[in-house]
Amino acid sequence: MRAHITGTGSYVPAKILSNADLENMVATSDQWITERTGIRARAVCGPGEACSDLGVKAAQRALEDAKISASDVDMILLATCTGDYPLPATACLIQQQLGAKRAAACDLSAACCGFVYALSIADAYIRTGMRHVLVIGSEVMSAITDWTDRNTCVLFGDGAGAAVVSATEGDHGILSTHLRSDGALWELIAVPGGGSRLPPCEKVLAEKLNCIKMKGNETFKVAVRTLEEIARETLTANRLTVSDLDLYVPHQANVRILKAVADRLGLPLEKVMLNLDRYGNTSAASIPIALDEAIRQGRITKGSLVMLGAFGAGLTWASALIRW
Ligand SMILES: CC(C)(COP(=O)(O)OP(=O)(O)OC[C@H]1O[C@@H](n2cnc3c(N)ncnc32)[C@H](O)[C@@H]1OP(=O)(O)O)[C@@H](O)C(=O)NCCC(=O)NCCS
Repeated sequence: MRAHITGTGSYVPAKILSNADLENMVATSDQWITERTGIRARAVCGPGEACSDLGVKAAQRALEDAKISASDVDMILLATCTGDYPLPATACLIQQQLGAKRAAACDLSAACCGFVYALSIADAYIRTGMRHVLVIGSEVMSAITDWTDRNTCVLFGDGAGAAVVSATEGDHGILSTHLRSDGALWELIAVPGGGSRLPPCEKVLAEKLNCIKMKGNETFKVAVRTLEEIARETLTANRLTVSDLDLYVPHQANVRILKAVADRLGLPLEKVMLNLDRYGNTSAASIPIALDEAIRQGRITKGSLVMLGAFGAGLTWASALIRW
């Protein structure tokens, strides 16, 4: 038995924040953001809209696409760093909203790599007997963004993507997954306050320590190196080469990072799925949203060889190779 993605879905909030809107909030310009990141707009949640709300909508679309009902789901894995509450797991709120009565549910924290990490776990469970695992990436990055910090506030967006991973026979499906981490680099991207090290207090709020702090330039270099390395490792493990790939669906953080990776791999840019111009970096949601769009645009069809590639806080990096 292999695990395969049998349905996908995505959802982004209705409210759009353009680069022009950001020009009125911090000392930035549409030209700077577009040239340095490739981002033109991002969706952000309205008041009262939270991680589970986005996740439920993406999941319902994925279940519909897979033509299974919520009661068929054995497990829900939600990749997020912006859950509704510190406790309980937001996956449980989604489980209840979907009516997935038989499903186990938990959250997974691996930042922007969360979806690929969760996909890897789903793959392992399917190989040992589960039938259907619902893997969701849902993020409300706007809730942990310092809207006065131009270094970070232009980069992120909110959204959710989901995939139904099901047991399947034949030679298609998830061929392999590859997961890495290096905690020595944890300070490159972190939310320093609000956890058990520095519980919520006046200092945390005053200094906005409950928001993302990032060393962008150093992160950029590590991202390019690790994405290239893990892509090569993944292809080698499957005795395939870059020219075998039909589509690369990477984490959508910065178009310059992805152009550099494609260039180093010798992969034509037409084979790289890009949608960060519309959504920015939606962390764990970015890959499943991009995957869902690529499928709906007909860029992935039966037989396509698709590679997912992610990097993020931790630091973590990860990949998956899938024969459609
Ligand atoms: C953040 C990032 C876009 C910055 O681009 P960069 O080319 O590295 O730019 P630098 O950080 O060197 O900053 C260059 C200048 O632009 C300024 N700047 C930063 N953000 C700005 C903004 N939104 N508007 C205008 N100027 C800005 C900086 O203050 C700096 O000015 P200085 O030279 O006067 O000090 C880029 O480093 C990046 O994308 N890194 C990876 C981040 C990432 O992917 N994180 C998520 C991982 S999942």
